[in-house]
Amino acid sequence: MALPKHPRAVITGAGSGLGRALSLELAGRGARLLLADIDDAGLAETARLTGAAGAETVTQRCNVAVAAEVEALAVAADERMGGSDLVINNAGVAVGGLVGEIPLTDWEWIMAVNIWGVIYGCHSFLPRMKRQKSGHVLNVASTAGLIHAPGMGPYNVTKAGVVALSETLAAELTGTGVGVTVLCPTFFKTNIFKSSRSTGDAAAKAPVEKLMARARLQADGVARYAIDSVDAGRLHALPHGDGRWFWRAKRVAPGFFASTVLGHGQRFLK
Ligand SMILES: NC(=O)c1ccc[n+]([C@@H]2O[C@H](COP(=O)([O-])OP(=O)(O)OC[C@H]3O[C@@H](n4cnc5c(N)ncnc54)[C@H](O)[C@@H]3O)[C@@H](O)[C@H]2O)c1
Repeated sequence: MALPKHPRAVITGAGSGLGRALSLELAGRGARLLLADIDDAGLAETARLTGAAGAETVTQRCNVAVAAEVEALAVAADERMGGSDLVINNAGVAVGGLVGEIPLTDWEWIMAVNIWGVIYGCHSFLPRMKRQKSGHVLNVASTAGLIHAPGMGPYNVTKAGVVALSETLAAELTGTGVGVTVLCPTFFKTNIFKSSRSTGDAAAKAPVEKLMARARLQADGVARYAIDSVDAGRLHALPHGDGRWFWRAKRVAPGFFASTVLGHGQRFLK
């Protein structure tokens, strides 16, 4: 369903990368914004930019890995904007390495942010949206949630969980007036590698960083595609052509695809 003319939007991880781009895209579309992050400086800078773009903007520090802080964010949306029309569960981190070598503490860290953060977001905001009989949740996953390359097990697991949760919701929310979209981009340039944790060959970061820089669609284009997808009521939003191609190939020829992905992926691990 289409967003209202001046949507009230809540965005987690708004202090950098895609979260900032989504904030600016929505500011350009006349939204009122409640922006959240654990990075105070990044959050303040995004708020400055959206404010300069003319959007009414408020901020709240929120660690999405803590249920009570996400619930407090939903309460803040009620108190400061009278509710929300769009919630974007965007905050995310990355962990690289091989299963069995990655410390369990890194698994726990990424699970807390990437999957529990999205679960908490849905848990706190959806009942409110159902009561108001309108709204939309945009969950930020990744192509890694649909196709699972080696060397990024924890990231794949969390993003596959976000896809599963979103597909489940699509059916559960039928007839409620509330919609869901799951965003699955491939690589684009942001600060995600600065905060990432990786075990083993650190050089494996280099080719991924090259892929990020080379992407035809960068954060602003991904954000535009994502909000257009919400407006169109699309469940799966795959902004990148290579991601759409990989996903189709996996469904058409899963066995062939597994060996191809494995072949490509193994190169990164050498
Ligand atoms: N950059 C890519 O290539 C790419 C590809 C596919 C999906 N994604 C997804 O896009 C989303 C945004 O990532 P990005 O690439 O913009 O990275 P980024 O590091 O530039 O931004 C992530 C933001 O999330 C915040 N954050 C981290 N942990 C948090 C927590 N516990 N609570 C609240 N905020 C927290 C960070 O402070 C940062 O501002 C993530 O979910 C990521 O997995 C990114």
